Amino acid sequence: MPSNDTISFARGAPSLDIVDVDGLSASATAAFERDPAGLTGYGTSIGYPPLRAWIAERHGVDPAQVIVTNGSMQADAFLFETFVSPGDAVVVEKPTYDRTLLSLRDIRGAEVHPVSLETDGIDTEELRRALEGGLRPKLAHVIPNFQNPAGYTLSRAKRQALLALAKEHGFLVFEDDPYVALRFAGETLPTMLSLDEHDTVVYASSFSKTVCPGIRVGYLVGPAELIGRIAKLATSTYISPSMVSQGLVYEFCRSGRIDTSIETVKSALAERVQTLGTALRRELPEARFEEPQGGYFMWVTLPEGTSVDRVFEEAADRGVQIVKGTDFLLAGGENTLRLAYSGVTADQIDEGVRRLAEAVRAARG
Ligand SMILES: Cc1ncc(COP(=O)(O)O)c(C=O)c1O
Repeated sequence: MPSNDTISFARGAPSLDIVDVDGLSASATAAFERDPAGLTGYGTSIGYPPLRAWIAERHGVDPAQVIVTNGSMQADAFLFETFVSPGDAVVVEKPTYDRTLLSLRDIRGAEVHPVSLETDGIDTEELRRALEGGLRPKLAHVIPNFQNPAGYTLSRAKRQALLALAKEHGFLVFEDDPYVALRFAGETLPTMLSLDEHDTVVYASSFSKTVCPGIRVGYLVGPAELIGRIAKLATSTYISPSMVSQGLVYEFCRSGRIDTSIETVKSALAERVQTLGTALRRELPEARFEEPQGGYFMWVTLPEGTSVDRVFEEAADRGVQIVKGTDFLLAGGENTLRLAYSGVTADQIDEGVRRLAEAVRAARG
């Protein structure tokens, strides 16, 4: 049974100390003062217009190419509903974000084709071979920066290779990019959206990781015609997303508080990842992992034959929560796990890894 000092490496969410609660509260007051009618009315299905314009400017696109939604999960759901029919082939990374995997397979009835993920992103050669072998995907879902669950980042060369494959074989690249702003090491890479010249990319991002997840504000950028169709679907689904949340986020962005918030989050994550790497090398030298350059997650591979099901249970008995690697895969990964370092302090990481190492030893018993 988890004890009351449970340490969770399971949730991809920030700890409260890195959420700018005072800034959010000040932004709420300022937003209501600035635009009471805009915040309290139904608004429109495309989102709070000033925030939509702010996002469009950041991406260098026309506002007609942007729809702001209740979290990017809602954006994903709208895109899949508009674009993916039962039986359609879709490419995903192996491993990938479990919610997207389930939504594509179980809700949309898509035929999911996982393609191996390497430390520099999806294996574009494996994808090329599958395409040449007759695979005809409707879209490829890719998390380019600090991937969930692996923490890996798609290289510049592979971004270009993927765009070329999408153009040649006529599929959409769905660039799911909620962690892009959270780079704490290495060189920033261009989005595929910015590299695309043929309307082959639909891009999603979110304020969950830069403001806070409870605000539920995310967005989609894509060809204006597709965004227009999604806006109609949004109208019939919920009339409009929350104008209060979006008005608050707009004020948080406009005032520059978001930049301070991102710096706070990045420096905490950088410290945590370092602590986690050091603790793993000390306590679990047999574990293999790649230290991420940003984002929330680290993927850990345990020696062949270690059962993550048993590790999960032994860890829970010691008050440590992890996510099994198998949750992010249709098959395989029995000796892998995902550690989220976003919601734990450096002290908790040291203690958590110590307990996890005990759990791994007990599981291999
Ligand atoms: C890859 C990926 N896409 C989408 C989401 C959902 O984000 P939101 O909170 O904006 O719905 C997450 C959240 O963890 C994620 O990791």
